[in-house]
Amino acid sequence: PNPLEDYDLSRPITSKVGLRQGLAAYGDAHFSLFLRKAFIKAAGYGEDALTRPVIGIINTGSGFNPCHANVPQLIEAVKRGVQLSGGLPIEFPTISLHESFSSPTSMYLRNLMSMDTEEMIKAQPLDACIMIGGCDKTVPAQLMGGISANKPVLPLVTGPMMPGSHRGKRIGACTDCRNNWAAYRAGFIDIEDIAAINDELAPTSGTCGVMGTASTMACITAALGLMPLRGASAPAVSATRLRVAEETGKNAVAAVSDEHRPQKILTKESFLNAITVLQAIGGSTNAVVHLMAIINRHPDVAGTITLDTFDEIGKKTPLLVDLKPSGDNYMTDFHNAGGMTALLQTLRPLLHLSAQTITGQSLGEVLDASGAHDFPYSREIIRPLSNPLYPASSIVVLRGNIAPGGAVIKASASKDRRLLNHAGPAVVFSDTADMARRIDDPELAVIAESVLVLKSIGPIGHPGMPEAGLIPIPRKLGAAGVEDMLRLSDGRMSGTAGGTIVLHISPESVVPDSVFGVVRDGDIIRCDVENRVIRLDVPEEEIARRIADKKKIDSVGGREKKRGYRGLYERSVNQAEHGVDFDFLTAAGPS
Ligand code: FES
Ligand code: MG
Repeated sequence: PNPLEDYDLSRPITSKVGLRQGLAAYGDAHFSLFLRKAFIKAAGYGEDALTRPVIGIINTGSGFNPCHANVPQLIEAVKRGVQLSGGLPIEFPTISLHESFSSPTSMYLRNLMSMDTEEMIKAQPLDACIMIGGCDKTVPAQLMGGISANKPVLPLVTGPMMPGSHRGKRIGACTDCRNNWAAYRAGFIDIEDIAAINDELAPTSGTCGVMGTASTMACITAALGLMPLRGASAPAVSATRLRVAEETGKNAVAAVSDEHRPQKILTKESFLNAITVLQAIGGSTNAVVHLMAIINRHPDVAGTITLDTFDEIGKKTPLLVDLKPSGDNYMTDFHNAGGMTALLQTLRPLLHLSAQTITGQSLGEVLDASGAHDFPYSREIIRPLSNPLYPASSIVVLRGNIAPGGAVIKASASKDRRLLNHAGPAVVFSDTADMARRIDDPELAVIAESVLVLKSIGPIGHPGMPEAGLIPIPRKLGAAGVEDMLRLSDGRMSGTAGGTIVLHISPESVVPDSVFGVVRDGDIIRCDVENRVIRLDVPEEEIARRIADKKKIDSVGGREKKRGYRGLYERSVNQAEHGVDFDFLTAAGPS
């Protein structure tokens, strides 16, 4: 390259690649490029490097994020792939979110991360961007931001952690966090054992090793065609993970073109495939919220897919993957059983094979080339269509007077399937503090047939819609052997949890005319999963009267007065069925 050409005022700067992008910033395009080159040279780059396509690499490593602890090695491998293909890799940071260290909830910060991601991709002179994420909210935030930014984006997940071991039994975050803690609470495990279990639940870096939200989003990202198929499941600590990173670097250089922008690659069919995969893996209910947010960022797909689409696809899609919490195994088992390649080959008749992928191949072409037709894998973990783990509808959408905007239940993770068709008297907790105070009270008026109701954990009510929907079994019932009860909330539940739990009830309880907000102790609540119904058996006039009374004493008043991000959040967040995104970030914009 001849650097003098960049300063020749008689020649327009025609290339739009790398540093030559968006040169209007200083009015004079040549001066803008002159300045940019001066500053980037401070990082040690030579003229040759500065003529290359720039591949941004989002670094979400953080000392607070053990799920992303392998990011430094991944970046090294990505850079190798980029450079081998002739690109210039430049890493930059964005927000990092770990589930356990993001108060009040990581979901509260997901939209902030998506804004950070979108704006930094748009702001910087990069031609394609590799988004390294993994922990639950990071991949959704990156997909939301990446689709909105609409430069070629290539997600790379950090990969699942390995399982640990306790007394000869495999354990892993975080299904076993919950069931062991429940057993400890009920007195079946002693304090030494629970301490020893704590050491083994997350024994390596990487994301939770079951089919929780992180694994679900990884599988969905691969199904969308944005990531190599084995990239969904290769363990965080494996050599395969590093090779996927190297391949992603190579793919990014090849993806530098308008044709590879996410709004071009992703179509309605891509998302239908993702929803099919969500149902077939018994994925996290959180993915329903995330997918709605992601879909609603896409101008051509928004509005064409709703919660009902998830239910329709569910009816046709069996649960095939035997992983916790719906089944028994871990992500490493899924990977060794062929992972997404084997799963998509199995699901082939249910998929839209013409959907595009980031490499330019259609999904069908990717599968044709994968060589897994003869299926050299065990069929124990990824079952054939003829022998599913659960016949259909692992995630079901419910509606009724108590949830006109919809509600979601992971039927396949129910521990007591009789509860999928059940009516019982409500035991209502007004918020998480009220629940913490009373749930283990020996005097609490609760029986095994009761329906536990937890309010005020919706998107606004407890900002970020916390994963508090797994209402614990009251200790006295747990000790008596009750393992599952019908439970309802306007919140979310960890993807690693199980039970008969109705989530995402919309509109949430703090919305002034929410029917869910006026449920009282003793009201009969009816759940009929087969008929997709969740209802409150209280006369309509009585419900209307309660709502009028409630409006007199409270409202969501004061939302507009709060400062900072909290104020922005409360003023702008939409309800669960829309994705809990900010209204001004959706493709449709504020309503
Ligand atoms: Fe990060 Fe579970 S805590 S994936
Ligand atoms: Mg989680």
